[in-house]
Amino acid sequence: MSYFPMFIELNGRRCLVVGGGGIALHKIRVLKEFGADVLVVSPTVLPEILELKGVSYRRKSFDRSDLAGQELVVAATDDAEQNRRISELCREKHIPVNAVDQIKDCSFIFPAYLKEGEVVAAFSSGGQSPATAQYLKEAMRQVLTPLLSETADRLGKIRPRVREEIGRQSDRKEVYRRILRRALESGEPPSEDEMARMIASYQKQDSSRVLSEQGNNRIKQSGDRMDVKSRELFEAAKRHIPGGVNSPVRAFQNAGRTPRFIVSGNGSRITDADGNEMIDYVCSWGAGIFGHAPKRVVEKVQAACGRGLTFGAPTEHEVVLAELIAESVPSMEVSRLVSSGTEAVMSAVRTARGYTGRDKIVKFQGCYHGHSDGLLVKAGSAALTTSVPDSAGVPWDYTRHTLIAQYNDKDSVEELFVLYPNEIAAVIVEPVAANMGVVLPEPGFLEFLREITKRSGALLIFDEVITGFRLARGGAQEYYGVTPDLTTLGKIVGGGMPIGAYGGRREIMEMVSPVGPVYQAGTLSGNPIAVTAGIETLTMLKEDPGIYQRLSDQTEKIKHAVTDAAGGQVCVNQIGSLLSVFFTSARVTDYKSAAASDTVRYADCFGYLLDHGIYTAPSQFEAMFVSDAHSQEDIACICRVFSEYFLEN
Ligand SMILES: Cc1ncc(COP(=O)(O)O)c(C=O)c1O
Repeated sequence: MSYFPMFIELNGRRCLVVGGGGIALHKIRVLKEFGADVLVVSPTVLPEILELKGVSYRRKSFDRSDLAGQELVVAATDDAEQNRRISELCREKHIPVNAVDQIKDCSFIFPAYLKEGEVVAAFSSGGQSPATAQYLKEAMRQVLTPLLSETADRLGKIRPRVREEIGRQSDRKEVYRRILRRALESGEPPSEDEMARMIASYQKQDSSRVLSEQGNNRIKQSGDRMDVKSRELFEAAKRHIPGGVNSPVRAFQNAGRTPRFIVSGNGSRITDADGNEMIDYVCSWGAGIFGHAPKRVVEKVQAACGRGLTFGAPTEHEVVLAELIAESVPSMEVSRLVSSGTEAVMSAVRTARGYTGRDKIVKFQGCYHGHSDGLLVKAGSAALTTSVPDSAGVPWDYTRHTLIAQYNDKDSVEELFVLYPNEIAAVIVEPVAANMGVVLPEPGFLEFLREITKRSGALLIFDEVITGFRLARGGAQEYYGVTPDLTTLGKIVGGGMPIGAYGGRREIMEMVSPVGPVYQAGTLSGNPIAVTAGIETLTMLKEDPGIYQRLSDQTEKIKHAVTDAAGGQVCVNQIGSLLSVFFTSARVTDYKSAAASDTVRYADCFGYLLDHGIYTAPSQFEAMFVSDAHSQEDIACICRVFSEYFLEN
């Protein structure tokens, strides 16, 4: 009996999606990608769904009459019980259904697909019972063409051999894809012998490729069992930690994967709980400029631990770190240490308000400045005059004072200063935006911000939590030659330990308690272990002036490889050791152009890289980071895997 994979054509098929949240959005995008005719039923929907072209919408609760005429159903409400009920109804009516996150209630898994032109292969429920398989086959009959049905039958017969002989799931997918392509090209399903030959020839190519090019990167060859332990840990984590993670992006939610639980890191590599070694291009979201566990830093930290973990009293090390910061970033004449980037930004904003006696702050759509209430704000529908909370739990009142402008759009900033003369305390900006993917400032943009804030009596805050010590020792302000009034730091300044810092001219920073009236404090601020890691890291950077050119050269190689392989399909933004591959052919210069990227393709590419031992950010809207621990071979490896991805997709 054949039940894996199933080939279906989605083009023009009527697909009902029940639900209007983030998961529904994700499914709808995939369905649309393959030309499905999508109807959404939900009392509420995300604005992004309404913006999708060619999606119909019924604003109501689901009832069984909605199933009339539908050929596929995706139950994507946030109520698992309702999804299960929809799934049962579909079974009664013999309509293939996908109930999100409930494998046993699915008759097909989506979007776990192979694609070839209009044809998509939907996988059965992970090879569940033969009864499920039989049901699935029957349920799918209406959407299978004879050619695809026969191909699926033959594939079903040969599947045990593919599973046995080809380790990695991504490689198995590739074999199925080739067989499917052959069937479509010739109009005939390949014979079993022919399929066997295709498997053998793939194996041959694959083993030489892995041996010659993976070097010592030992990707485990256990296919879809690569993350068994991570899955178990994730399930356990979800019992006591929201979503199983302590920071949302780690959940791999947008990538449709299970997060890898990391056991150790060394240099450019990390190893997960299943023993998979991966080349890491996340580097703790930029903190690891020297890679994992740099010897010098670890030794200093070990020694510091022996002297005491925390005192809640001043130490000489704090003086040394403040001096190093001021020397590297001269605009930070006086600085205060805190324990995270969020705290640094929150405190800098408070200081700016205290110093100017004004309340309003201008921030840019798509820039992230940590999760404090006043900064979790997005543009409202009348973008210039309203802004709204970007998180539940943030009172509407808090957003009144945060004004939203568009990155690289001088007019949007100018208009705010016209609308609110003498009310704006500060403009805060990531001088190179890295939280909508990497977006570079257009020539003159930062200079303009400097000029308009000065002219209007407002302060300019550069949030250099990412760019600080990454673009140059003096951060983006050194790189671009624009000096802000206040700067915030995080990540590298702590050398892998939790530190944030904010600082600026003495007259501004002396607003901060105990000298001035702006209150800010912290039990673990200036923690001696974290400060030790920071000092050693900044010292290593000071001793190695060539590092920034080296990092930039390495990162540029990735940019060129991707650009060459992908042709016009993507836009690669790169500066120094920061890089983003946007799945859009247009230039990405602001939030809107970044948001137009194809996040489904990004997720697909992310999964491919992960399956090939390359660990990158699981979201289109995060940066990729290169560290000094990445060797030429590491860079060659990511270039090759990217190239293969674009060749195959
Ligand atoms: C530019 C920027 N500012 C602030 C923050 C918040 O830092 P943290 O996560 O340490 O609170 C981040 C985090 O990624 C960031 O990228």
